[in-house]
Amino acid sequence: MPAPRILILGATGGLGRALYRHMASRFETISLTRAELDFEQPDKLSARLAEQEFDVLLNAAGMTSPDVCEVEPERAFVANAVAPQILAECCLARRARMIHFSTDYVFSGVQRDLWFEADETAPINVYGRTKLAGEQAVLKASPSALVARVSWLYGPDKPSHPDNIIQRALQTDDLSAVVDKVSVPTSNADISGWIEQLIIRHPTTCGVLHLCNSGVASWHSWAEAALEIAARLEVPVKTTCVRPVKLASLTQLKAPRPLLTVMSNARLQSLLGGEIRNWYDALEEYLVQKYQPQ
Ligand SMILES: NC(=O)c1ccc[n+]([C@@H]2O[C@H](COP(=O)([O-])OP(=O)(O)OC[C@H]3O[C@@H](n4cnc5c(N)ncnc54)[C@H](OP(=O)(O)O)[C@@H]3O)[C@@H](O)[C@H]2O)c1
Repeated sequence: MPAPRILILGATGGLGRALYRHMASRFETISLTRAELDFEQPDKLSARLAEQEFDVLLNAAGMTSPDVCEVEPERAFVANAVAPQILAECCLARRARMIHFSTDYVFSGVQRDLWFEADETAPINVYGRTKLAGEQAVLKASPSALVARVSWLYGPDKPSHPDNIIQRALQTDDLSAVVDKVSVPTSNADISGWIEQLIIRHPTTCGVLHLCNSGVASWHSWAEAALEIAARLEVPVKTTCVRPVKLASLTQLKAPRPLLTVMSNARLQSLLGGEIRNWYDALEEYLVQKYQPQ
């Protein structure tokens, strides 16, 4: 079988950049920017996509800020649900496979230790509702599509929680992080490797699949782990202690956040046939590469 040609959308974002770097060194890979394919102009998507040559579409684009989605619900619905449906229809028409990224925020976050792919969804904010609508529209339009739910992403292409807390700890020892919100930090580099495997070894896997590292963290334990690793790498952080605070104390957030959204990666493990590494090990590798590059 010839090597698949990959098209990546959202390749200026944190996950999309990591995917592009990984795929471009292995496959014929192209990307389209927002200026070239704007999800908020859905009537132009089909014609624009028809001009491209690809076998697999990786969609990492969308309106990703819960707070922006909360105040712009119509725009969020177009970007996160209407556009992905059109992309899925285009993929079906040309027999391409669509891999569409979604989120742990499709779950309510209430009274559940671990969420599986088939569990009931009940998003509590506009972001989660529009992403869920996108999942459903994509799977309905293209039964061969794969919806990859991810959580708490980080990597070298866009500062996220561990980078921000280390940056703050260079200035002050007065740090706080939310302790009652729990999920799984997940490395964009690890996701890129799993996606490669899914493209090569599992070309017909479809439906919903949770893509996350193993283990459980809160924003607080994730922050303290990042600081502890940074201190070990001789980054001059002023402290490795973070004051735990409750999510309810963050009154500036516009969108409510689900509390408990730890996803099971058992389906991913059984597909790939090996252990998925713990989030701590992936975080350590990321920080070593950042602060002690060879
Ligand atoms: N980050 C997380 O912790 C997290 C957690 C769970 C799920 N996810 C999901 O994972 C995926 C990737 O997230 P991310 O954090 O990498 O996102 P991101 O860094 O915010 O990047 C979003 C990408 O989407 C593009 N985009 C935004 N609006 C667009 C539009 N109207 N038309 C075309 N492109 C548009 C952006 O382009 P510009 O650069 O031009 O703005 C950017 O390339 C998303 O599906 C997100 O919902 C992320």
